[in-house]
Amino acid sequence: MPSYAYLKKKYVPLEQANINVMTNFMHYGTGVFEGIRGNWNKTHRQLYLFRLKEHYERMRNGCHILNIELPYTIDELCEITVKVAQTSAFEEDVYVRPVAYKSSETLGVRLHNLESDFFAFVFPWGPYLDTDRARCVVSSWRFPKEIPRQKLTGLYVTNALAKTEAVSGGFDEAIMLNADGYVAEGSGENIFLVKGGKLVTPPSTDGILIGITRDTVMKLAKNELGIDTIERHVDRIELYDAEEIFLTGTAAHITPVGEIDRRKITDGEIGPVTKKLQKLYADVIVNKNTKYTSWCTPVYPEK
Ligand SMILES: Cc1ncc(COP(=O)(O)O)c(C=O)c1O
Repeated sequence: MPSYAYLKKKYVPLEQANINVMTNFMHYGTGVFEGIRGNWNKTHRQLYLFRLKEHYERMRNGCHILNIELPYTIDELCEITVKVAQTSAFEEDVYVRPVAYKSSETLGVRLHNLESDFFAFVFPWGPYLDTDRARCVVSSWRFPKEIPRQKLTGLYVTNALAKTEAVSGGFDEAIMLNADGYVAEGSGENIFLVKGGKLVTPPSTDGILIGITRDTVMKLAKNELGIDTIERHVDRIELYDAEEIFLTGTAAHITPVGEIDRRKITDGEIGPVTKKLQKLYADVIVNKNTKYTSWCTPVYPEK
């Protein structure tokens, strides 16, 4: 089954979706990307794109920072995404990678006097952190303070440095601190602690990406489990005596953390709150829980 892409206003097989080496964004990180999951429901024989519109709303905010004029409305971007996924015809979990970018085939460090374009492609992708309990380490890499946290391609070099530092040290994921030394997030996930039965997570002002999974978890915890989330600074030392810790992300879903800095989180097993949230989330993303149907966009025509 070939993967498809939408590039330069055409739907093409992924292997033909190539861009010129002079394309501006490849040199200076002047692109905004998203990651969207398509989750396969075997019983419905349907692929559901999760919180599609919210991803494009976040992308639009990133584009505003980089002066990228998106050549499509959010509704059109959603339609393109459904069509790319439909054309690929996968019957398994997929990941969609849309990118809005400075598309002029011109070198020069700037944001002005450059054209903008958009592409997207889809491919099958299983769990991102391939472990049921991640082993994490606090990274020596920190986000620069003055940079806005959006999914700007150029910003992710810090995350890549942090991730490789962690993996080469034998860990699954890096936990990054912000410039003030507070806990921020994983290299590709937000972080939650369970403390006194409540959820605690760093606030938007602590240099984190405002994750869509983060928002989903906060809503599910409140609506379905009656658990509030406190958004506040988190000190590194608090990680060590948290009752539970988990990471959230479109790619990583809800991944429990078994240890941080070689210290077990409680007994290192998956905690009860994390387990309940994982179950709720797993049902919601495949449209098994009808209360949250509006978050799930079907890719294939409904029979
Ligand atoms: C740095 C970072 N933080 C958090 C997240 C989680 O965001 P979301 O839940 O919207 O995927 C991501 C993934 O997109 C990310 O790259």
